[in-house]
Amino acid sequence: MTAPARTLFVTTALPYANGPFHIGHIMEYIQADIWVRFQRMRGHTVHFVGADDAHGAPIMIAAEKEGLSPQDFVARIAAGRKAYLDGFHLSFDHWHSTDSPENTELSQSIYRSLKAHGLIDVRRVEQFFDPVKGMFLPDRYIKGECPSCGARDQYGDACEVCGSVYLPTQLKHPYSALSGAQPELRASDHYFFRLSDPRCQAFLREWTAGTDRHGELRLQPEVLAKAQEWLGGGEEGGSLADWDISRDAPYFGIEIPDVPDKYFYVWLDAPIGYLASLKAHCAKRGIDFGALLADPTTEQVHFIGKDIIYFHVLFWPATLKFGGHKTPDRVNVHGFITVSGEKMSKSRGTGISPLRYLEIGMNPEWLRYYIAAKLNARVEDVDFNPDDFVARVNSDLIGKYVNIASRAANFVNRYFDGRLAVLAGDPADPLTMRVAGLEAAVAAAYEGREFGRAIRLIMAYADEVNQYFDARKPWELAKDPARRDALHEVCSRCLLAFHRMTILLAPILPATAARVEAFFGTPGLRWEDLGVRAGTASPAQRIGRYEHLMTRVDPKSFDALFESPTATVEPATGAAAPVPEGAVAASPAGASDAPAAVSIDEFERLDLRIARIVAAETVAGSDRLLRLELDLGEARTRNVFSGIRAAYDPAGLVGRMTVVVANLAPRRMKFGVSEGMVLSASADDPAQPAALFLLDVDAGAQPGMKVQ
Ligand code: MSP
Ligand code: ZN
Repeated sequence: MTAPARTLFVTTALPYANGPFHIGHIMEYIQADIWVRFQRMRGHTVHFVGADDAHGAPIMIAAEKEGLSPQDFVARIAAGRKAYLDGFHLSFDHWHSTDSPENTELSQSIYRSLKAHGLIDVRRVEQFFDPVKGMFLPDRYIKGECPSCGARDQYGDACEVCGSVYLPTQLKHPYSALSGAQPELRASDHYFFRLSDPRCQAFLREWTAGTDRHGELRLQPEVLAKAQEWLGGGEEGGSLADWDISRDAPYFGIEIPDVPDKYFYVWLDAPIGYLASLKAHCAKRGIDFGALLADPTTEQVHFIGKDIIYFHVLFWPATLKFGGHKTPDRVNVHGFITVSGEKMSKSRGTGISPLRYLEIGMNPEWLRYYIAAKLNARVEDVDFNPDDFVARVNSDLIGKYVNIASRAANFVNRYFDGRLAVLAGDPADPLTMRVAGLEAAVAAAYEGREFGRAIRLIMAYADEVNQYFDARKPWELAKDPARRDALHEVCSRCLLAFHRMTILLAPILPATAARVEAFFGTPGLRWEDLGVRAGTASPAQRIGRYEHLMTRVDPKSFDALFESPTATVEPATGAAAPVPEGAVAASPAGASDAPAAVSIDEFERLDLRIARIVAAETVAGSDRLLRLELDLGEARTRNVFSGIRAAYDPAGLVGRMTVVVANLAPRRMKFGVSEGMVLSASADDPAQPAALFLLDVDAGAQPGMKVQ
């Protein structure tokens, strides 16, 4: 690349260490990971770190309920993280914890700096205290009667019946949700970060509206608008309230220096955990943490969800600024994932367990691809829809992308010993011609987190490559020894195009990309291997044996993926539901009710033949059928209607071989006469029309050969 190499420090929000990852976490990590992998492929240096958010009252209380120390409780959660991070190919350089020496030291030093700036105030605050538990109660652990409507058992901040918002001290007949005791009002000293200070207001006004070092707004427009609303329009004073950053013992957190029995509120030390994780990563790699962070060219980029914007665009930059550190270059906010249109509960997830997804053998790259296809740079929610998932993966990824390799590789291995033709840069070649423009557009889309757009661009190219292949009919070229060069060129161009597409897709499909690299013998692909710059040739020169790169999604998997509601245990403490044990994989289709035996004579009455699909198209007026034109080695082709439309893209079928019942009596249908039947395997479930699989034929078989 001609652009200078960048150094990036990238984070995702630190998940509460009170339960396993849910699909919302995984979506956030996939988004950030795709961006990070793209940057690395461009030759930039990325330090990509995460950590568990270990502190706070809810975790302390959850641990106590289980008879564990909070440290043991969060250690148990931390031990479960690796399976997800590895399983979904998330390329974090390091995963840390906010309950760590690095975080303690950084948080305390930042606090000292805030204090030295005159930004810490101490004020006496009256709060509810549980005399049985001997602790001050967070708002959500106080219940009572709503002061407006009188509804019982309402939380200390808002009424779920009438919707009114109040202070816990306004509840009638308040009680502690922990002990049931009647809480007492007690006063204690609280430490405040004076965000109302004009220096903070002025800094935040400037920072929120600022740009990163590439001249892009550091916040998305809708996020900036929110920040400005919170900051208020006025020049001085503004409307930011001071922030209470202390909690009284007992609390699971970091001690405030020189103040006995007081701890930082978890949201003060949580984002400092980003720095702590980077620091631990640097120590592991022998990198100078102080120098890396102080370097003004190091770009600090955070990925977060829309519910924690306030903390990341107001509290966090101000904490860094007056805590003596560099401030973030960008905060990238994503929306929430819903499942089939349903919002997931913050505490219980969506009913899809990412771990179960892996355990039942679903391919992590299907999810990466599907989520990428739905993501853009806006703060929009993303819906996970099983039918949509199956359609995207099967028709795009398998039907368009993988299909190119499987079609072209057979010829190159069979006739040319795996060697690709040495092709001069042919300006008239439609496939290479498009690459420079495509590369730039896809790179811009990745850079701007418009992943759905990147995928649309790449798939449009895949369509072109498939059309190129079909138009040149290599299966016909192969019949004529005089046209070997043409056959070689067509298939080589398609394989080179496939190799380039793999580079473009590699940030999303890292494992597939690695298999494709092995297939071509071109390991460690980088963006510049696209070869769009003058004089750079593609590193792809030959192929190995073609192995299946990726299988189709079986829609039946979703039966096993979705947790039955009865398996979900309502957590007592806001912890995510445990992954139900004993997830059962879908039983293989048709394993039961097998039909009665037939004699060999009966079987031989069927005339099964190899056929080549020479044309395929949709049928106007039918959403089930495709019209296929089949070559059975006869004088003319046959017309067959096949109910495979939900599972196959017609463009992807042209040229492939399959198996046909050739002596089925012709059948007149609404759309024409069908002269045979294409064989396919199916899940045999009308609710899963895409669960259909055509039979494959090994290389060498010719149209018309009898199957027996
Ligand atoms: N611990 C805090 C973050 C501290 S960051 C210094 C927290 N944890 S969380 O576990 O509740 O959320 C972690 C991340 O997951 C957040 O970015 C949050 O927005 C994201 N998501 C939580 N539910 C989500 C969805 N349903 N969909 C997508 N992301 C979601 O908040
Ligand atoms: Zn009420």
